[in-house]
Amino acid sequence: MTMPDYEVEAAHYDSTRGGEPRARAAASAVERLLPPGPVLDVAVGTGIVAAAMTRQVIGVDLSLSMLGHATQRLPGRVAQADARRLPARSSSVSAVTAIWLLHLMPDSEAVLREVARVLRPGGVFVCTVDKRAAHRLAEGNIAMPGARDERARVESLGARYGLSVCGEGSFVGHGQDFEPVFPLLALTKG
Ligand SMILES: C[S@@+](CC[C@H](N)C(=O)[O-])C[C@H]1O[C@@H](n2cnc3c(N)ncnc32)[C@H](O)[C@@H]1O
Repeated sequence: MTMPDYEVEAAHYDSTRGGEPRARAAASAVERLLPPGPVLDVAVGTGIVAAAMTRQVIGVDLSLSMLGHATQRLPGRVAQADARRLPARSSSVSAVTAIWLLHLMPDSEAVLREVARVLRPGGVFVCTVDKRAAHRLAEGNIAMPGARDERARVESLGARYGLSVCGEGSFVGHGQDFEPVFPLLALTKG
Protein backbone atom coordinates (compact mmCIF):
# COMPACT_ATOMS: atom_id res chain seq x y z
CA MET A 1 0.00 0.00 0.00
CA THR A 2 1.33 3.45 -0.89
CA MET A 3 1.62 6.22 1.64
CA PRO A 4 -1.29 8.71 1.62
CA ASP A 5 -0.38 12.18 0.39
CA TYR A 6 -0.30 14.01 3.71
CA GLU A 7 -0.01 17.37 1.97
CA VAL A 8 -3.60 16.70 0.83
CA GLU A 9 -4.73 14.67 3.86
CA ALA A 10 -3.84 17.47 6.28
CA ALA A 11 -7.03 19.45 5.64
CA HIS A 12 -9.30 16.66 6.89
CA TYR A 13 -6.85 14.47 8.83
CA ASP A 14 -8.15 15.17 12.33
CA SER A 15 -11.83 14.75 11.48
CA THR A 16 -11.24 11.47 9.62
CA ARG A 17 -8.91 9.90 12.21
CA GLY A 18 -11.10 10.13 15.27
CA GLY A 19 -10.32 13.69 16.28
CA GLU A 20 -9.75 14.56 19.94
CA PRO A 21 -11.20 11.34 21.44
CA ARG A 22 -8.69 9.21 19.51
CA ALA A 23 -5.89 11.65 20.27
CA ARG A 24 -6.61 11.67 24.01
CA ALA A 25 -6.78 7.86 24.11
CA ALA A 26 -3.46 7.59 22.26
CA ALA A 27 -1.72 10.26 24.34
CA SER A 28 -2.71 8.78 27.66
CA ALA A 29 -1.75 5.22 26.65
CA VAL A 30 1.60 6.45 25.31
CA GLU A 31 2.35 8.49 28.42
CA ARG A 32 1.79 5.46 30.65
CA LEU A 33 4.82 3.87 28.93
CA LEU A 34 7.13 6.91 29.02
CA PRO A 35 9.53 8.09 31.70
CA PRO A 36 8.85 11.60 33.07
CA GLY A 37 10.16 14.50 31.01
CA PRO A 38 9.98 15.90 27.50
CA VAL A 39 9.43 13.80 24.42
CA LEU A 40 10.41 13.96 20.76
CA ASP A 41 7.34 12.98 18.73
CA VAL A 42 8.44 11.70 15.34
CA ALA A 43 5.74 12.06 12.65
CA VAL A 44 3.84 14.49 14.85
CA GLY A 45 1.34 15.06 12.02
CA THR A 46 -1.20 17.74 12.92
CA GLY A 47 0.01 17.62 16.52
CA ILE A 48 -3.33 16.34 17.76
CA VAL A 49 -1.81 13.51 19.82
CA ALA A 50 1.22 15.52 20.98
CA ALA A 51 -1.01 18.36 22.19
CA ALA A 52 -3.03 15.90 24.28
CA MET A 53 0.07 14.84 26.21
CA THR A 54 0.63 16.36 29.63
CA ARG A 55 4.35 17.05 29.07
CA GLN A 56 6.46 19.16 26.75
CA VAL A 57 6.60 17.70 23.26
CA ILE A 58 8.85 18.63 20.37
CA GLY A 59 7.42 17.35 17.09
CA VAL A 60 8.92 16.63 13.69
CA ASP A 61 7.25 15.58 10.47
CA LEU A 62 8.00 15.52 6.75
CA SER A 63 4.76 17.15 5.61
CA LEU A 64 4.59 20.94 5.71
CA SER A 65 0.79 20.85 5.48
CA MET A 66 0.54 18.58 8.54
CA LEU A 67 3.06 20.78 10.33
CA GLY A 68 0.92 23.83 9.50
CA HIS A 69 -1.68 22.41 11.90
CA ALA A 70 0.88 21.20 14.42
CA THR A 71 2.49 24.58 14.74
CA GLN A 72 -0.82 26.06 15.88
CA ARG A 73 -1.06 23.44 18.62
CA LEU A 74 2.64 23.43 19.56
CA PRO A 75 3.94 26.90 18.65
CA GLY A 76 7.71 27.05 18.40
CA ARG A 77 8.04 23.33 19.07
CA VAL A 78 7.73 21.72 15.63
CA ALA A 79 10.12 21.35 12.72
CA GLN A 80 10.28 19.63 9.38
CA ALA A 81 12.51 16.57 9.55
CA ASP A 82 12.72 13.04 8.28
CA ALA A 83 12.29 10.24 10.81
CA ARG A 84 15.40 8.66 9.29
CA ARG A 85 17.55 11.76 9.97
CA LEU A 86 16.46 13.33 13.23
CA PRO A 87 17.74 16.79 14.21
CA ALA A 88 19.08 15.64 17.58
CA ARG A 89 22.51 14.79 18.94
CA SER A 90 23.39 11.18 19.59
CA SER A 91 22.35 9.87 23.03
CA SER A 92 20.60 13.16 23.90
CA VAL A 93 16.89 12.34 24.11
CA SER A 94 15.10 10.52 26.93
CA ALA A 95 11.85 9.71 25.14
CA VAL A 96 10.79 9.32 21.51
CA THR A 97 7.34 8.48 20.18
CA ALA A 98 6.13 7.46 16.73
CA ILE A 99 2.38 6.97 16.47
CA TRP A 100 1.04 5.51 13.24
CA LEU A 101 4.36 5.88 11.41
CA LEU A 102 6.12 2.53 11.06
CA HIS A 103 3.34 0.89 9.02
CA LEU A 104 3.99 3.58 6.37
CA MET A 105 7.75 3.17 6.16
CA PRO A 106 9.26 0.80 3.57
CA ASP A 107 12.52 1.24 5.48
CA SER A 108 11.38 1.09 9.09
CA GLU A 109 14.88 -0.19 9.94
CA ALA A 110 16.23 3.30 9.20
CA VAL A 111 13.78 4.75 11.73
CA LEU A 112 14.71 2.24 14.44
CA ARG A 113 18.41 2.88 13.81
CA GLU A 114 17.93 6.65 14.05
CA VAL A 115 15.78 6.46 17.16
CA ALA A 116 18.41 4.25 18.79
CA ARG A 117 21.07 6.82 17.86
CA VAL A 118 19.30 9.79 19.49
CA LEU A 119 18.03 7.99 22.61
CA ARG A 120 20.19 8.22 25.68
CA PRO A 121 20.91 4.99 27.58
CA GLY A 122 17.78 4.17 29.57
CA GLY A 123 15.66 6.26 27.20
CA VAL A 124 12.39 4.89 25.89
CA PHE A 125 10.84 4.65 22.43
CA VAL A 126 7.08 4.12 22.19
CA CYS A 127 5.56 3.27 18.81
CA THR A 128 2.48 1.74 17.30
CA VAL A 129 2.84 -1.76 15.87
CA ASP A 130 0.45 -3.96 13.86
CA LYS A 131 -1.60 -0.92 12.81
CA ARG A 132 -3.28 -2.45 9.77
CA ALA A 133 -3.63 -5.77 11.58
CA ALA A 134 -5.66 -3.91 14.21
CA HIS A 135 -8.07 -2.66 11.54
CA ARG A 136 -8.40 -6.15 10.09
CA LEU A 137 -9.03 -7.74 13.47
CA ALA A 138 -11.69 -5.14 14.30
CA GLU A 139 -13.39 -5.96 10.98
CA GLY A 140 -13.38 -9.66 11.90
CA ASN A 141 -10.56 -10.61 9.50
CA ILE A 142 -7.29 -12.27 10.33
CA ALA A 143 -4.10 -10.22 10.26
CA MET A 144 -1.88 -10.51 7.18
CA PRO A 145 1.75 -11.40 7.91
CA GLY A 146 4.63 -9.30 6.65
CA ALA A 147 3.52 -5.80 7.64
CA ARG A 148 6.20 -3.16 7.93
CA ASP A 149 5.22 -2.55 11.54
CA GLU A 150 4.69 -6.18 12.54
CA ARG A 151 5.55 -6.42 16.22
CA ALA A 152 8.08 -9.23 15.78
CA ARG A 153 9.82 -7.26 13.05
CA VAL A 154 9.98 -4.08 15.15
CA GLU A 155 11.30 -6.06 18.11
CA SER A 156 14.00 -7.70 16.04
CA LEU A 157 15.02 -4.45 14.32
CA GLY A 158 15.13 -2.78 17.73
CA ALA A 159 17.36 -5.54 19.10
CA ARG A 160 19.74 -4.98 16.19
CA TYR A 161 20.27 -1.41 17.45
CA GLY A 162 20.35 -2.08 21.19
CA LEU A 163 16.67 -1.53 21.96
CA SER A 164 14.83 -4.07 24.09
CA VAL A 165 11.16 -4.40 24.94
CA CYS A 166 10.22 -2.70 28.21
CA GLY A 167 6.46 -2.40 27.96
CA GLU A 168 3.34 -2.58 25.88
CA GLY A 169 -0.05 -0.96 25.78
CA SER A 170 -2.89 -0.06 23.43
CA PHE A 171 -5.47 2.57 22.69
CA VAL A 172 -8.92 2.53 21.14
CA GLY A 173 -9.28 4.16 17.76
CA HIS A 174 -12.36 6.17 18.67
CA GLY A 175 -14.11 7.44 15.59
CA GLN A 176 -12.52 4.80 13.34
CA ASP A 177 -14.65 2.15 11.65
CA PHE A 178 -15.19 -0.74 14.13
CA GLU A 179 -13.07 1.12 16.73
CA PRO A 180 -9.86 -0.92 16.39
CA VAL A 181 -7.55 -1.40 19.36
CA PHE A 182 -4.09 -0.22 18.31
CA PRO A 183 -1.13 -1.92 20.01
CA LEU A 184 1.79 0.08 21.40
CA LEU A 185 5.29 -1.22 22.02
CA ALA A 186 7.87 0.39 24.32
CA LEU A 187 11.58 -0.24 23.75
CA THR A 188 14.42 0.94 25.93
CA LYS A 189 18.06 1.55 25.04
CA GLY A 190 20.42 -0.55 27.10
C1 LIG B 1 -0.86 8.58 9.99
S1 LIG B 1 -0.02 10.13 10.24
C2 LIG B 1 0.25 10.08 12.01
C3 LIG B 1 0.34 11.45 12.63
C4 LIG B 1 0.33 11.48 14.15
N1 LIG B 1 1.43 10.72 14.71
C5 LIG B 1 -0.98 10.99 14.67
O1 LIG B 1 -1.03 9.93 15.31
O2 LIG B 1 -1.99 11.67 14.44
C6 LIG B 1 1.59 9.77 9.58
C7 LIG B 1 2.51 10.97 9.57
O3 LIG B 1 3.83 10.51 9.26
C8 LIG B 1 4.47 11.52 8.51
N2 LIG B 1 5.62 10.91 7.84
C9 LIG B 1 5.63 10.01 6.85
N3 LIG B 1 6.90 9.67 6.53
C10 LIG B 1 7.71 10.38 7.34
C11 LIG B 1 9.12 10.47 7.51
N4 LIG B 1 9.97 9.73 6.75
N5 LIG B 1 9.61 11.31 8.43
C12 LIG B 1 8.78 12.07 9.20
N6 LIG B 1 7.43 12.02 9.09
C13 LIG B 1 6.89 11.19 8.18
C14 LIG B 1 3.38 12.02 7.59
O4 LIG B 1 3.69 13.27 7.02
C15 LIG B 1 2.18 12.05 8.55
O5 LIG B 1 2.07 13.30 9.17
